[in-house]
Amino acid sequence: MDQELKLFGIFGHPLSHTLSPIFQEAGFQKAGLHAHYLVFDLSLPSFKRVMKSLKKIPLKGFNLTIPYKQTVIPYLDWLTASAKAIGAVNTVYRFGKKWYGTNTDHEGFWLPLAKEWKWKARGKEALVIGAGGAARAVLYALSSKRIRKITVWNRTQKRGEKLIRDFSKLFPQVEFEYQSWQPGDRADLQPFDLIVNTTSVGLNSQDKPLLKEKDIFSSKTQGLKHFVDLIYKPAETPFIRFAKKKGHRTMNGLPMLLYQGARAFEIWTGHKAPLDVMRKTLTEAVRLKK
Ligand code: ATR
Repeated sequence: MDQELKLFGIFGHPLSHTLSPIFQEAGFQKAGLHAHYLVFDLSLPSFKRVMKSLKKIPLKGFNLTIPYKQTVIPYLDWLTASAKAIGAVNTVYRFGKKWYGTNTDHEGFWLPLAKEWKWKARGKEALVIGAGGAARAVLYALSSKRIRKITVWNRTQKRGEKLIRDFSKLFPQVEFEYQSWQPGDRADLQPFDLIVNTTSVGLNSQDKPLLKEKDIFSSKTQGLKHFVDLIYKPAETPFIRFAKKKGHRTMNGLPMLLYQGARAFEIWTGHKAPLDVMRKTLTEAVRLKK
């Protein structure tokens, strides 16, 4: 076992439901690291005070979640290309005396598609529903893997248009299109191989389904499509349920949570993340979560 104690953590607010400590701790233990992962549930003024003392805090690295993924940026010495493009930092690490901010959400999204589905983006067309921070991570992942076209559907036009403007500049080889759309509108999914929900619609049981069941054609008539919902609780939103019923491939947000954490683990420790044990612990924790 490593002798030096290494401390990591997560900053956010509220944080009572975070699953990150559970699976990061399981990973540290399996890898034989003398390391722990702490929860810092801080109000905005406290968070800012801590960030001002960043040079002195006894952490080797940390994660950020809502609402601090952007707030942290001015306190860091350097941002990676992904953090700049996505406009948010979820993982911070030390390099020498400097603090680096990166974003592993895009890898968290991409790795399960590549590893579990062997899905390739090159030449494909995807639909991304929503235009917030999560959508930016998804666009970054797909664009970096040289997808042909991404269509964005978002309720608020301004936000949707800004997203595709930003990404058209960053990835001129990818075609981007914004279409005004809101839940309940008719949806023509025919052109898309991959359909991703990045909105919070489906989080609450009272939410109307994001897509109408009748708009999702059978995989036998339209071909097999890939549906990803970034929501993991409930494990099966109507979006996922309908797509599954029609014979398509589906994935919820749990693999993304696992893989973004696994990448942070690897950046911080230099060890390969023990994925099996981290997955098992996370799956069990989410099953027990109210
Ligand atoms: P995140 O960082 O998780 O992406 P966010 O930045 O708040 O969160 O973005 C939430 C996304 O979900 C936005 O695209 C939002 O649409 P608007 O830009 O129109 O606000 C979308 N969203 C949230 N609730 C929605 C709802 N009830 N119907 C449609 N879209 C919704």
